Amino acid sequence: QTFFTPIHQATPPSPTKHHTKISVIGVGNVGMAIAQTILTQDLVDELALVDSNPNKLRGEMLDLQHAAAFLPRTKILASVDYAVTAGSDLCIVTAGARQIARESRLNLLQRNLELFRMIIPPLAKNSPDGILLVVSNPVDVLTFVAWKLSGFSSNRVIGSGTNLDSSRFRFLIADHLDVNAQDVQAYIVGEHGDSSVALWSSISVGGVPVLSFLDKQAIKYEKETLENIHKAVIQGAYEVINLKGYTSWAIGYSVASLARSILRNQRKIHPVSILAKNFYGIDGEVFLSLPAQLGRAGVLGVTNAHLTDEEMQQLRDSAKTIMEFQTQLGL
Ligand code: NAI
Ligand code: LAC
Repeated sequence: QTFFTPIHQATPPSPTKHHTKISVIGVGNVGMAIAQTILTQDLVDELALVDSNPNKLRGEMLDLQHAAAFLPRTKILASVDYAVTAGSDLCIVTAGARQIARESRLNLLQRNLELFRMIIPPLAKNSPDGILLVVSNPVDVLTFVAWKLSGFSSNRVIGSGTNLDSSRFRFLIADHLDVNAQDVQAYIVGEHGDSSVALWSSISVGGVPVLSFLDKQAIKYEKETLENIHKAVIQGAYEVINLKGYTSWAIGYSVASLARSILRNQRKIHPVSILAKNFYGIDGEVFLSLPAQLGRAGVLGVTNAHLTDEEMQQLRDSAKTIMEFQTQLGL
């Protein structure tokens, strides 16, 4: 007697839906926040976990598997061997050192560069048609590194970039205006870090440009108030790291939203770290965040947002900051 009596005459329909697989490299605070959000949001058929710490890796896999009764059915695998990532549609890289209190993201470059030299080639070999989504910091430079080491076309190498900063920005603007953050269209672009750029001129709330919204609502503001909101975005990560030692939940939701846009071919616009060469007057091979349309082929296009002269200059300065670190790599 088999445990389950299959109905042999039922022939399954030809598979119209591609079997989707995500691999998450690094099962630390960030990797696990991303993994659990992907499972909760039913984004994939198969989730593979990789880490250099075998005990932590197996522990996290078992712990997620034990939640099976509460989650959509997803095959969860884990191994220190990159073969487990074979055939991934999306490989999310979170492995690496994280900042300590008051440490800048750019300061992590040398340590995490060495990890990427070990991680990216086997990922690319096992999923030659996949998309790489880099989260490890400094995310812009490491996305450039992943592009160079993988040999993938640039549309298939993306950094989570300022998708997270823009969420913090939208939260603070929504809080300031007492509206829903999902009704706030606002982009932070450039470096995911201290030189990020707030695109004030293109922010709207419910379709109304924010600056005129404030005028209409007779909400008293000075330029300084708006700049303080951007400063709070930049300080946001440092404050959380200072308080709890790392950031995880917001980046978990941020990266799961990117995974959904890519795997479900949403053609949705996100501020993410892409090869910015030839956009907005940037001429170097530098990855930084611009409002990009994402779908199953990765980066589908880049918006032509209107930037003021000041915003264009700030974006060029941000690109210069990243390039200064990038040229040290010799890649
Ligand atoms: P964590 O220390 O909790 O986890 C790092 C994981 O990487 C550990 O499990 C470790 O075993 C693993 N690891 C180390 N070397 C490895 C290797 N060679 N191969 C595979 N796995 C390896 O750190 P956390 O908090 O998860 O942060 C991870 C990274 O994500 C950091 O670089 C951090 O700055 C970055 N991050 C980026 C954000 C963004 O918005 N781009 C936001 C938050 C964190
Ligand atoms: C952030 C840092 C850790 O949370 O990149 O923005």
